[in-house]
Amino acid sequence: MKSLSYLNKYFIRYKWLLFLGIIFLIGANLFNVIIPLIVSDAVDDMEQSISGDNWMHVAFYLGGMYILFSLIKGVFVFFQRQTIIKMSRHIEFDLKNEIYTQYQRLNYNFYKANATGDLMNRISEDVSKVRMYLGPGVMYTINLVFLFIFVIYSMMKINVELTLYALTPLPLMSFMVYKVSSRMNRQSEQVQRSQSEISTIVQETFSGIAVLKTYAGEPKAKSKFNLASNQYLQRNMNLVITNSLFMPTITFLIGLSTIITIYVGGLLSYEAQSTVTNGNIVAFVIYVNMLTWPFASVGWVTSLVQRAAASQERINEFLKASPEIVNPSDEPFNFQGSIRFENVSYRFPNSGIQAIENLSFEIKPGETLAILGRTGSGKSTIIHLLLRQFDPDEGMIYIDEAPLNNINLSAFRNQTGVVPQEVFLFSDTIENNVKFGVAENESANRVQVEEALIKAHVYHNVTNFKKGLDTILGERGVNISGGQKQRVSIARALIRNPKLLILDDCLSAVDTETEETILNNLKNQIDKNTSLIVSHRVSSIRHADRIIVLDNGKKIEEGKHDELLALGGVYADVYNKQLLEEQKKKSL
Ligand SMILES: Nc1ncnc2c1ncn2[C@@H]1O[C@H](COP(=O)(O)OP(=O)(O)OP(=O)(O)O)[C@@H](O)[C@H]1O
Ligand SMILES: [Mg+2]
Repeated sequence: MKSLSYLNKYFIRYKWLLFLGIIFLIGANLFNVIIPLIVSDAVDDMEQSISGDNWMHVAFYLGGMYILFSLIKGVFVFFQRQTIIKMSRHIEFDLKNEIYTQYQRLNYNFYKANATGDLMNRISEDVSKVRMYLGPGVMYTINLVFLFIFVIYSMMKINVELTLYALTPLPLMSFMVYKVSSRMNRQSEQVQRSQSEISTIVQETFSGIAVLKTYAGEPKAKSKFNLASNQYLQRNMNLVITNSLFMPTITFLIGLSTIITIYVGGLLSYEAQSTVTNGNIVAFVIYVNMLTWPFASVGWVTSLVQRAAASQERINEFLKASPEIVNPSDEPFNFQGSIRFENVSYRFPNSGIQAIENLSFEIKPGETLAILGRTGSGKSTIIHLLLRQFDPDEGMIYIDEAPLNNINLSAFRNQTGVVPQEVFLFSDTIENNVKFGVAENESANRVQVEEALIKAHVYHNVTNFKKGLDTILGERGVNISGGQKQRVSIARALIRNPKLLILDDCLSAVDTETEETILNNLKNQIDKNTSLIVSHRVSSIRHADRIIVLDNGKKIEEGKHDELLALGGVYADVYNKQLLEEQKKKSL
């Protein structure tokens, strides 16, 4: 339960709504307990002079009062919901924003360590469970307290003995309801789990439809789905049984209360000098019924609060996580173009892989450094380190001779254009996907978007689409080819006129001729500004000012293209092999 105390700050923020809500709630309950008294009077009046003029009094005065008070109570109930439930929605909104903001603050390693589904659940399912506590949970609890006080007071005022008799079944009812509703919760959680299993299966089937079809995997997918939906059905059936038990249990116990009230009330009213009237017995029956739902809801609210506490605990875990890397400074930063790695080492904490080992290199302003290396040799890790997705275990990285850890990180990132190895495009128009690259505080028009696309050598493809720049790309840009996606991603990096351009193996999906064209188009950008190019292909990097060859996180060769060829090492080897392949392709 302690986890829920985190929400107190929100109760304080919306204290007026809560306060007003409680006032309305008290009002509603006051009128609620007066109504049975009117009925009681009416019964007694009718009994005394069923044929007298009294029927006018009963019909108009008491009847009118009954209607009026019911209406007023209704108005109070309306406003009670308007304030307390409203408060819960406001808090839900704030909490979601808080979690989302926190997600934005957290770094690369956090996202690597947590599954996307988990992150999504925190912000949707867990928050909605917490909301149930904030709204209905709080409202029913306060309601129960006041209703209980008012009703017991009214009953006691009529007759203490009868009150005690009438209430005997209530604790038993609360206990039974608690049992039944925790069973119901358990089972509905199982149902929900089944349901999300089904959605996962269906979602995977859709996104992997190409693989599924080509492997003729329909029967496999179908049997997997059948299994899951059978389980879903079975679990729902269990829930139906429990649900069916709920109402009869309550009805039985209310019936018991009512019978006791009438029986004991009847006996009492026969006693000499009895103060219990028939009208009182009727009022008691109404009171007992009035207490039923709130008591029944004790069990429901208890399990609701328990679930909210569990959810809030999970949320708190995320909220408490502090980002390993925060922007150390707000000072304006203007990148001049020099980068230096000094004995940098990095080991991935989760896999224990030593991705970079004692690596040093330098890029001077305007220079182009190229990195070549086998898959898994640590090339992408260098880029992550340079953009400070995570910090090196040992060694230092200097930007313009200042430690990377000291400079304004967002300013530095804003001046960098990265084309990552794994292209990600939003489900949005091509134009907006490119414009995403526009640096903060700057803007770009359509012509600039077109220019970027032309440089990335993809504009001619885009104009072929019916809607041109307004073509919406699928969730992962499914309606354009892999090479086209890479080039849209390049345009995104170019549109920000970066002072540092980083290309992480981003031409792997295009043929050598297209690659040549693109590199030619980028020549101006690359010549003027500092650039870092990662590639498997010698052809894309041969013109770089310096090339380093990486193996297992270590630098094994360094120099210009010609120097490395003369060296006759790994680079020369790779070059000769690729040259041979090219010639083979051309001769075909
Ligand atoms: N998030 C991660 N968690 C754990 N290990 C990782 C992670 N990312 C990369 N690695 C490991 O670190 C090593 C270097 O990976 P990196 O991505 O830098 O290679 P790369 O040279 O870019 O390879 P490729 O040419 O295939 O892109 C690899 O052995 C890889 O398995
Ligand atoms: Mg890589």
